[in-house]
Amino acid sequence: MTRRIPIGAIDDFPRGQIRQVGAHGTVVLVARLEDGAFCAVLDECSHMALPIGEVPLEGTTITCPHHRSQFDLCTGHNLDWVRQRGGITLPRWVRRLADRGEMPRPLTTVPVVVEGDAVYVELE
Ligand code: FES
Repeated sequence: MTRRIPIGAIDDFPRGQIRQVGAHGTVVLVARLEDGAFCAVLDECSHMALPIGEVPLEGTTITCPHHRSQFDLCTGHNLDWVRQRGGITLPRWVRRLADRGEMPRPLTTVPVVVEGDAVYVELE
């Protein structure tokens, strides 16, 4: 069953930024894009399930601070998988060997609903 959970007012979300919000015990990254649209994902990287946090937003792209995987925040799609290990940026061929065939996984997207001035996320 889907739960609609209030997370604030529109003005609580500056354009072009990500906010980390709690929604009934689930942490969600919510972005209000420059055009005013909202996108959200669970704050859990698909690589090692670590929190991503309030990272900079570049268009709709975010970069996980742990190993530099990149994702589209609106679709959850992986754009680049595990670019860095131990603080060292790895060439793509080394990354393929290090991943040992592990396929990149998307982030879990979360629907955002705006009604009047109020913003909600919908969680299962
Ligand atoms: S935990 Fe995000 S890239 Fe590794």
